[in-house]
Amino acid sequence: MIYKHSDYMHWAKTQQRARFNLATSGVGPFPLAGLPVDWSRLEINGDNAYGYAPLKEAIARKSGVTTDSVVTAAGTSFANYLAMATIVSPGDDVLIEHPAYALLVDAAQYIGAAVKRFARREENGYALDPAEVRRALTPKTRLIVIANLHNPSSVLAGQAELAEVADLADSVGARLLADEVYLDAVYDETPPSAFHLGRNVVVTSSLTKVYGVSGLRCGWILAQPDLARAMWRLNDLFAAGAVHPGELLSVTAFEHLDILRDRARRVLERDRALLGPFLDSHSAVSAARTRFGTTAFLRLHQGKVDEFLGRLRARHETSAVPGRFFEMPNHMRIGMGVNHEMFAEGMRRLGLALEETP
Ligand SMILES: Cc1ncc(COP(=O)(O)O)c(C=O)c1O
Repeated sequence: MIYKHSDYMHWAKTQQRARFNLATSGVGPFPLAGLPVDWSRLEINGDNAYGYAPLKEAIARKSGVTTDSVVTAAGTSFANYLAMATIVSPGDDVLIEHPAYALLVDAAQYIGAAVKRFARREENGYALDPAEVRRALTPKTRLIVIANLHNPSSVLAGQAELAEVADLADSVGARLLADEVYLDAVYDETPPSAFHLGRNVVVTSSLTKVYGVSGLRCGWILAQPDLARAMWRLNDLFAAGAVHPGELLSVTAFEHLDILRDRARRVLERDRALLGPFLDSHSAVSAARTRFGTTAFLRLHQGKVDEFLGRLRARHETSAVPGRFFEMPNHMRIGMGVNHEMFAEGMRRLGLALEETP
């Protein structure tokens, strides 16, 4: 059975919105007016058959790699699909963390992979545990997939654990795909990309979640040059080239990444300052506490999450992501970093809904 849809993405596009939207995963939109664009440089067409060179250079510089390891793609979404589709053939085992960002599972299933799971256990604070990976590994595993930071929990994987998982993958001739779209939300001592941990590590990322320029769809893959070439060749099936004005604006965004990142950081840190006290004072929910990231994954200790979220929306005009999209039906994901007033009021309303009887 080939899955040709994603229930989560459909929900996100049609149901997520609310007056107090806690169902976000990225920071708020960065306005074009805030970007010092040299409009005389904007053009419609450009030389971008296998990526626009200045953009590949900007990504390579940021990631500490050479440009022959960079494949540009429309967001991390397409980067993940292109990476998986290049590496995995139908019937191969793909080992994906649980809980996971739904699209990682959906894309692997669409490719025809036999999707297997390894646990990131709530009782273990959703840590990446190499022992769980080892237990689930098979000789047919071609790819292990994680997100770092983890979505939904925002937990950061340790470098030692990542290296061990990359080695485990290598032991069966597999690769590790690390989706690092949230990694730059670790604002202090940002860890280096997992790409540098081994030749079998492939990384995806974009300027969407942490930088607020999702509309540019500026995503990329980091892979060893031979694999990167294979990805470009597969991409020939889908795209003659990228939208060139988007590439030019992305280059400008790279020139001002600090402005984009700092602006979001200020909002995110104010929001995060409310989250801890909220969890301390509402025993009806609990969550792994993290110092970083745009999301938190809350367990509701009593009652059904879908009913609770229905009430939260109907009575309090507030949305959050149902845990069923992460195959964790007793949980919900909330997002930070968009707008502090909205977050504060959304959390107040979430608190009211927790206190009232259905
Ligand atoms: C782990 C993860 N990867 C990728 C994406 C999609 O990223 P992009 O907007 O760059 O396509 C998301 C969006 O929620 C995500 O959570």
